[in-house]
Amino acid sequence: MGILTSAVDVRSDAFRANRAHYDGLLATLRDRLAACTASGRAELVARHHARGKILVRDRIDLLVDPGTAFLELSPLAAWGQYDNGLPAAGIVTGIGLVAGTPCVVIANDATVKGGSFYAETVKKHIRAQEIAEQNRLPCLYLVDCGGANLPQQDKVFPDRDHFGNTFHRQCRMSAAGLPQVSVVFGGCTAGGAYIPALSDQVVMVEGNARIHLGGPSIVKVAINEEVDGETLGGAAMHTRVSGVSDHLAADEPQALARLREIVAELNLGRDLAAGAAPVEAPLYDPAELGGVVSHDRRIPYDVREIVARLVDGSRFQEFKPEWGATLVCGWARIHGRPVGILGNNGALFSESSLKAAHFIELCDQRAIPLLFLHNITGFMVGAEAERGGIAKDSAKMVYAMSIARVPKISVLVGGSYGAGNYGMCGRGFRPHFLFAWPSAELATMSADIAANVMLELRRGNVKAAPPTDDELAAIDRAVRDQYGEQSDPYYATSRLWDDGLIEPAQTRDVLGLCLALVSTVPDAGPRTPVYRM
Ligand code: COA
Repeated sequence: MGILTSAVDVRSDAFRANRAHYDGLLATLRDRLAACTASGRAELVARHHARGKILVRDRIDLLVDPGTAFLELSPLAAWGQYDNGLPAAGIVTGIGLVAGTPCVVIANDATVKGGSFYAETVKKHIRAQEIAEQNRLPCLYLVDCGGANLPQQDKVFPDRDHFGNTFHRQCRMSAAGLPQVSVVFGGCTAGGAYIPALSDQVVMVEGNARIHLGGPSIVKVAINEEVDGETLGGAAMHTRVSGVSDHLAADEPQALARLREIVAELNLGRDLAAGAAPVEAPLYDPAELGGVVSHDRRIPYDVREIVARLVDGSRFQEFKPEWGATLVCGWARIHGRPVGILGNNGALFSESSLKAAHFIELCDQRAIPLLFLHNITGFMVGAEAERGGIAKDSAKMVYAMSIARVPKISVLVGGSYGAGNYGMCGRGFRPHFLFAWPSAELATMSADIAANVMLELRRGNVKAAPPTDDELAAIDRAVRDQYGEQSDPYYATSRLWDDGLIEPAQTRDVLGLCLALVSTVPDAGPRTPVYRM
């Protein structure tokens, strides 16, 4: 396999300028992550502790194997919404090792609106379940949840992908052999009660944990019965009388230790290290990535510079290096796992689209997962491109990618616009994982192009009077503002359009974990034939 040679001079002015710009992006990311992972308001955190409860991320620390990483998903969900009063959307999800078994953890943060569900909470919960299902992982629920957030009920309750869907998934995953286990830490009402009630096995913490379909106030209103929470749904009652709970724990550490014991006996036998080649560090430091990515979108850079800092030994077997130059395709290993990489080096032309389709088919035939590195303005437009059949050639790329059975992972390193996002396996194409760098932008097109299109449409409007300069300037400003706000990576991650913003230097390790997960899932069956493009 060839070894990539970097042409980047880390002492150059260009590198320093890129690095300084990226350091600013990273500082913002770290500040926002710190705010989002600090749980709810200070007085609610203090009350939580005063009740003898442990904060949600500390619970996860106690749960996962010491010294192993926990990959937290979408920590910036709901960022910038609800006056920033819903940190992490009130729920922590992620993947970690528990008693040696990779598990998805879904944990309510009771210090954020009582762990009740907003639209982003539901979406994040469902996305974690989807990841569990796709990667055949058990789900561990750390439940501390007031159910649907009542004022938000129309956004979380009635529709197909709302709260009910989480329970549908829970039942179906359990039936498909993916264990669903809950520990209950606090008051769980209605939907919050169904999470443990539909679990295969339940642990409750004495004193604080409650499970009831209706809490004391609902009971009073509905049937005029006066009952306290402990009598109605306490841990002792449910473990000794109703049988809703299977294990009573004296405190939270004991409950988490019990959960670890349960996971140790799940008999799943999943070894994430199985089948991996020895791991080699890249020849070029991943910490240099911030200096590689151009701080100005108009100044191009070679995506091979990114690949050289992500893959084992910077080894890369490039496919068709002399054809379809605007898409770089090739095979490499990350943390010892084979991967087929597609990275943009400019707009996608017919040739690069056909090359992509051919490469995807080869990876599918060889059962090699695909990694898409997005930095794409779109497929080529214009008379020459259309005469050359860009509509059908781009469709071939989209089609080949859509039907490939191999796992797909996308990382947005730069722009991801329009149909280019589709061809490169954007969210709509259900990649197994999709992460973004803080330099990402996601929209139908750039603000500049969108503003010009809208101006053209206004000028061409035959029903209205010719536009004034002021009107055109107002349209231009409004479209630029809208696209500027909505293509921002924080806007995207807040709405769960990705699985989280990650730092370039962390990307190799995140991909290593994802590839280990997808590579140890049983084979997906028949493959796409290789049609030469
Ligand atoms: N909908 C809307 N807001 C809710 C809520 C819900 N289901 N559950 C809790 N909250 C809010 C509270 O209004 C409070 O908001 P604030 O931070 O603005 O003051 C915050 O969450 C904390 O609630 P609080 O009751 O003080 O916390 P607690 O730890 O003492 O109790 C619960 C937590 C979940 C046991 C309790 O809030 C509760 O029983 N909630 C109602 C549950 C319910 O009836 N759900 C039905 C869903 S269909």
